[in-house]
Parts: sequence; structure tokens; C-alpha cells
Amino acid sequence: MKTISINLNKNRAYDILIGRDNLGAIGTQLKAMNVGESIFIITDSKVGGLYAERLIDIFRKAGFHDTDLARFPHGEKSKNIKTYTELMTRLAKFDGGFNKNVLVVNLGGGVPGDVGGFVAATFNRGVNYVQIPTTLLANVDSGIGGKVGIDFHNIKNKVGSFHQPVLVFVDLSLLKTLNLREIRSGLAEVVKYGVIADPPLLGYVEKHVKDILALNLDVIEPIVEKSYRLKARIVEQDEKDTRGIRMVLNYGHTIGHAVESAAGFKYSHGESVSIGMVCANDLACEIGIFNRPEAERIETLLSKIGLPVKIAHCKLADIIRFLKHDKKSVNGANRFVLPVKLGKTEIKSAIPPELIKKVLKKRMA
Ligand SMILES: NC(=O)c1ccc[n+]([C@@H]2O[C@H](COP(=O)([O-])OP(=O)(O)OC[C@H]3O[C@@H](n4cnc5c(N)ncnc54)[C@H](O)[C@@H]3O)[C@@H](O)[C@H]2O)c1
Repeated sequence: MKTISINLNKNRAYDILIGRDNLGAIGTQLKAMNVGESIFIITDSKVGGLYAERLIDIFRKAGFHDTDLARFPHGEKSKNIKTYTELMTRLAKFDGGFNKNVLVVNLGGGVPGDVGGFVAATFNRGVNYVQIPTTLLANVDSGIGGKVGIDFHNIKNKVGSFHQPVLVFVDLSLLKTLNLREIRSGLAEVVKYGVIADPPLLGYVEKHVKDILALNLDVIEPIVEKSYRLKARIVEQDEKDTRGIRMVLNYGHTIGHAVESAAGFKYSHGESVSIGMVCANDLACEIGIFNRPEAERIETLLSKIGLPVKIAHCKLADIIRFLKHDKKSVNGANRFVLPVKLGKTEIKSAIPPELIKKVLKKRMA
């Protein structure tokens, strides 16, 4: 297994272990780390059906005899207060008021990761948790960094916290059951890393699209490693998103989140980010800080991957309404991460609302 370390202050540093067909090693790994005695697994209906029994068996063999499993219906629509409350209720019952040193283990994509992380952040004012990311998106992005939370009144990640895991355990062979739509979604975040920080990564994806979509793990593994390393270095410099460094990860997410909400989650997160990135590029070109050929290169790649670059499933007015709720707005003005060239971005806040509207209108299908 390969190890990437995230170096954070105090006791918040942790390792990301990356391997294939290595899930069997997680039990002994956690025993050796001594990070909890009773295990509460949080997963969704789909991933739980595929992998939970195996995981419980692995834990049992490693000597974890007190385990519980909570599943919720898969998908973004479950990332809400109802699921959070149900998980909390079940976890409180499992703990039984004994403070029995519970370790939360999140098995799944970004949704179980974010909700489960928020449960871990808030139960007993914070307990240890582990991420076992099972989507490409979670294996390049959401699995690390400690941003945890839920959507609230359909506003993305409105309620949440920062709580770092004690371990991120990647078994890439778990990706083998992913469908094509989810692989495409994960690639949107990889394109994001290429644009904001690593143009060669963009070239790599352009070259290997076919193999990636066919889930060739030899081609995917370097992407996971590269993306996690890029994010790890950013998180190390700005863990709580207060220094304007981590904000770069939001490229494509301002409009992306608004579209995701306005469309009632008919678009996956990655699909929304794809739309958000082409809109951000359009804005950057309109204000004259980015050039069309580079914007077109990104759009061509997104289309080749099979990600949307036009907006359907929602009304322009709803996108604008959700844009106003963006957490990163300051005094009512959205802040956009815009590219100035491949590998370099700037944060812009004084963009006239009419220009945002014009760009969105042009992208409506
Ligand atoms: N915390 C962060 O830093 C961060 C970063 C990026 C995105 N996110 C969040 O992540 C979420 C999106 O993540 P996602 O796309 O992984 O969503 P997800 O967890 O809903 O997974 C997508 C679908 O894939 C299925 N699935 C997961 N693993 C599978 C497997 N191995 N085999 C078969 N099916 C599998 C799930 O059941 C689900 O239907 C959004 O809520 C987004 O806001 C968080």
C-alpha cells in the first residue's frame, strides 16, 4: 500500500493508505492504531449491499466484536437532517450512554463520507472516524480534508463542520462496481485539479479518457494519488478555509452547487461541477482574464468524458436564487474562483449580476 500523509497541527495529522484488494488489512490496521474499540459503520443502501458484510467480517477477524451497521437510501437526497438524526439516534443507542470509545467508519462515496463525518464530528462533541471512499469522486476529493456536513433546505453543505478522519483507507478494487455515470462524475473533480493546479494532469486525462471510463485501475491509480496529493498540500496550508488558499478547490462549485440544488439533485455533484466549470470559464473570458482556446480545451475534455456543459433540469431564476445562498458569498456578492491560465486561478467577487445572468442564459439547453 502507498501512503500519503496529511500533516496538520496537534493530533490532526493522518495517513491515506492506497492499495488494491487490500480491504482485508483494515481491521488489523485499526487495531494497531488504537483509535476506538466499538465500530459503528455508516454506509448507503447500495454500497452497504455490496461491501458491508465483508467489512464486518474483516473487523470481527481482527478482534472487533462490538460492531453496528447503519444504512440510509443512497444518493444526495439523503444528505439531510433526517438522515443525520436517524444516524445519531442509532449511534446513541449503540453507545448506550456508556461512552464506549466508538469509532465511526464511513463506507461509501461523498454522501456517506460527509454525513458520517458530521455524525462523528458532533456525537459526544467529536469521536474518531475513518473514511473508506468507494467512488472515484471520493477517491480524488471528498475522502480527505475533513469538511463534513449535510445539505439544509436543499442548500448544499449549509450545516457542517471541520473534523479530520484518523485514517483514509483506499481499496481501489471497490471501484469495480461503479457505473459509468459515477466514474464520469469523479472525473469532473480531476479536471478541476488539472485546471487549478496541474495542467499535466489535464493532459493525462485527455490521453487516457477511454481507459479511465473502462475502469482500468493501472491508469486510475496515478490519478487518485496525484489528486489526493494536490488536495493534501492545499488542506495543510489552509485547513479551515480561512486563508483564501483552500478556496481554490471551489472552482466550478459556486454555480455548480446552485445548479445542483436548483435541479433538485437531478444532476450528480460531478455533473453540476462540470457545468459550474464551463460557466466559470465563460465568466473569466467575459471579464477578459482567461482565453477562449483554453476554455474550449476544458469544455472539449468535459464533453469527451460525457459530462454536461449545458444546463437542463432547472430554471435560470432558481439557479440565481440558490446562488444567493452560497456560503462563500460576502455581503451578498458571490465569490468566484476563475482561471487566468491553466494551473492558475484568481478569486473575483465584483462580478455584475447581469453578467452572471448572461453567462448562465447562454448555457441553458
Ligand atoms: N467533503 C468534501 O470535501 C467534498 C468534496 C467534494 C464533494 N463532496 C460531496 O460529495 C458528494 C458526492 O459524492 P459522490 O459522487 O461519491 O456521491 P455518493 O456518495 O452519493 O455516490 C454516488 C453513487 O454511487 C454509489 N456508489 C458508491 N460507491 C459505489 C461502488 N463502489 N459501487 C457501486 N456504487 C457505488 C452510491 O450508492 C451512489 O448511488 C456531494 O454531496 C458533494 O457535496 C464533498
